[in-house]
Amino acid sequence: MMVSSGNLIAIGSDHAGFNLKEAIADYLEKKGYEVKDCGTFDTASVDYPDFVPCVVKVVKEGGRGVLICGTGIGMSISANRYRGVRAARCLDVFSCEMARKHNDANILVLGGRLMGEELAFRVLDVFLNTEFEGGRHKRRLDKIDELGSGF
Ligand code: RB5
Repeated sequence: MMVSSGNLIAIGSDHAGFNLKEAIADYLEKKGYEVKDCGTFDTASVDYPDFVPCVVKVVKEGGRGVLICGTGIGMSISANRYRGVRAARCLDVFSCEMARKHNDANILVLGGRLMGEELAFRVLDVFLNTEFEGGRHKRRLDKIDELGSGF
């Protein structure tokens, strides 16, 4: 059952996303969000899939999620293996707007080695403040679950 955790944002990274994760956690807290820090907690080398389940758990409970690795690729591949997750790697504002409006993305994935803090904050704001448009886009999302579950 979904519990409402609308103000809660879980954020996780590997070592390559650590600095950006810290900056984003700060940014979100200053904006009044409740942040769950899923690690990693320093720049020592770690394996990015280890930080995904903690973020996914919060998303499944109705919160939102942010994952960061060096490119964002490993984190998105990992996160999209979990049922109900629609993780979108967004390196620009327009992609993020579309990821919310058309794809109802529930996890934002960022590339810590590819973007500066200012761009990451702008993308994050769009992720948090853009509504899903539903309609034909909902039909398409339903097809992803329907067609993908048989293989
Ligand atoms: C770590 O070196 C790097 O491979 C990781 O952060 C990520 O970019 C993988 O997709």
